[in-house]
Amino acid sequence: MKIAIVGGTGKEGAGLAVRWAQAGVDVVIGSRDESKAARVSEELNRQHQGHPIAGKSNLDAARDAERLVVLTVPYSAHKSTLNDIKPALPGKILVDVTVPLDPKNPRHVIMPPEGSATEEAVAFLGDGVKVVAALQNVSSGSLGELSHPIHCDILVCGADKDAKLETIGLLEKLGVKAYDAGDAQSARAVEAMTAVLIGLNIRYKLKHAGVKIWTGD
Ligand SMILES: NC(=O)c1ccc[n+]([C@@H]2O[C@H](COP(=O)([O-])OP(=O)(O)OC[C@H]3O[C@@H](n4cnc5c(N)ncnc54)[C@H](OP(=O)(O)O)[C@@H]3O)[C@@H](O)[C@H]2O)c1
Repeated sequence: MKIAIVGGTGKEGAGLAVRWAQAGVDVVIGSRDESKAARVSEELNRQHQGHPIAGKSNLDAARDAERLVVLTVPYSAHKSTLNDIKPALPGKILVDVTVPLDPKNPRHVIMPPEGSATEEAVAFLGDGVKVVAALQNVSSGSLGELSHPIHCDILVCGADKDAKLETIGLLEKLGVKAYDAGDAQSARAVEAMTAVLIGLNIRYKLKHAGVKIWTGD
């Protein structure tokens, strides 16, 4: 199955692209600039031996995706990028990784009026697109350390159970445990947790603080 990573030229999206490509997933990364997407995809393909990563415009990448479109852009570009790719999304699942960090202080978030970036995407895209929130608590640094597994778990939120299960299937190809963490409103806590993790990294000089669910076993 082919997936798209819109904003996949950046830190988080590129790290995910390489990890999924290594796991044999067919990935196309998107950019506002098609030539940048092509250049970055070539650079990424030099880092791994997996399935080749393609590069296209954000809209064409989203059009190429069979089911899952992953969104990894800064919050300032959230709405405009959703608007750019909206024609390609009906019938698909948008996996939103966006965190509305305070641009002046990444230890805080500034939530949109809908409650979270995820709920903003739900409201903007309407019923024809299933929005799932995931990966907000996984740092690009940890994705980039290819010789190490990703040590944290992933919390997945959204209204549609089947869309969450499909997303969890894709996430588990990264070698992680992913949990259904509730509905779209639960994304408020998950997105805000990213700011807390950034604060922990700064305060304790950690590299990639993350979330791990203790299951009592
Ligand atoms: N980095 C992390 O460790 C991390 C961890 C968890 C969650 N996140 C979240 O994931 C998202 C992406 O983070 P990132 O660190 O990967 O961001 P980034 O590297 O700064 O940006 C990602 C891509 O977004 C596009 N972009 C940047 N500014 C834009 C604008 N004004 N309008 C439209 N597109 C723009 C760029 O692609 P083109 O120039 O190619 O279009 C860029 O390569 C954020 O919401 C962040 O909070 C990040």
